[in-house]
Amino acid sequence: MSRLVLDTASAQTFLEPDALRREQGRAQAFYRDLVEAPDPAGVKGWVSCQESAVQLDLIRRKGAEICEKADVFVLVGVGGSNQAARAVIESIRSAHKDAPEILYAGNTFSPYEIGRILDATAGRSVYINVIAKNFETLEPGSHFRVLRQRMQERYSREEMARRVVLTGTYGSRLEEIAQENGYTFLSFPERIGGRYSAFSPVGLLPLAAMGLDIDAYLEGGRQMQERLRAEDGGIAAEYAAVRSLLYQKGFDIEMLASFEPRLSWFSRWWWQLFGESEGKQKKGIFPASAIYSEDLHSIGQYMQDGRRNLIETFLSVEDPGASVRIAPDPAFGDRFDYLDGMDFAEINRAAEDATIRAHTQGGVPCIRLTADRLDEDAFGQLYGFFMAACAVSGRLLGVDPFDQEGVEAYKRLMFHTLGKPNV
Ligand code: PA5
Repeated sequence: MSRLVLDTASAQTFLEPDALRREQGRAQAFYRDLVEAPDPAGVKGWVSCQESAVQLDLIRRKGAEICEKADVFVLVGVGGSNQAARAVIESIRSAHKDAPEILYAGNTFSPYEIGRILDATAGRSVYINVIAKNFETLEPGSHFRVLRQRMQERYSREEMARRVVLTGTYGSRLEEIAQENGYTFLSFPERIGGRYSAFSPVGLLPLAAMGLDIDAYLEGGRQMQERLRAEDGGIAAEYAAVRSLLYQKGFDIEMLASFEPRLSWFSRWWWQLFGESEGKQKKGIFPASAIYSEDLHSIGQYMQDGRRNLIETFLSVEDPGASVRIAPDPAFGDRFDYLDGMDFAEINRAAEDATIRAHTQGGVPCIRLTADRLDEDAFGQLYGFFMAACAVSGRLLGVDPFDQEGVEAYKRLMFHTLGKPNV
């Protein structure tokens, strides 16, 4: 079992100790409210893995079947309906070599992209999981139709029933479709919003289909939830309080930075979680992300020397899970001999430490969150931590971290243009 470590010491030097104590007290009170108070709005089902992680036997069974029989697994969903699973899969799927290829659909209107996905399924054993809490979302709805039609050209009704899994709310049109066609139906629990759905069937079936260990993942989530409860909000309240005070001082952009490129999809998940939860009423820290060292050669300039309204949160990984040592090559004369015998892990760590020092000296409040390694358990912990921190952070900011009215504006105009009835 790994343990996440949060280090806000350097960022705290930008804050007054009394103000921090008060803000931390407010954050802890919001945390207690999150986990203890009743839930009349029906938005807190994710706070405990027990309520999110339903239908586990079915998920294990179906996941194992997909993993064994699919050449291609198409995950159809957008925003909170695909990001959590995608982040884990894109980071650690190489651990399961026999898993199917995974394609992500239902997240674009680009004909080029959907055409590419349809081409990639041709002549191969295809399984799909369509995930939509509100089955009016156009991207997954439209992609389900074209994928389904393409599959129906090859598969009988019985075979379709084996190959299609729908994840939606009970009583929705998606559930009716599952019943009418004999498809497997998984619950998108009512009291859980998309971006908080990591521990529900939304996140679990895709992980199981890719051969990943959902029990270790859920155990990581549970451990984090228990730890936060035992510590009265612990590191989630601390992170929320520190960024809240920094925001009040004018630091209104947060860069999530990592030296592990395989965390780039995790950054997208984090970006959605905080952007959609906090960007309201003309308020909120703007979330951004960078993958170093590559991005040090581009946005690194701004981080070091641009406007001083930036917070930087480093997501560090203790054990990179690989080792590549540099052998001496004295005769070649490439002038990199000072690296002889070093492992890239040491070089990456030196670059990360140097970046944190340099950016701190450049006036950026730096926070560091360290995971021992990247595996299912660690992702469970990361999700447990960030979801709680985000909910508390939204409350500190004075916004509702669970709604997203702002995303409806473009939809209304688009639906009107496309002639959707009753818009
Ligand atoms: O977090 C959210 O609620 C959103 O990002 C949704 O997940 C996203 O809009 C997709 O919604 P749906 O599952 O209803 O298609």
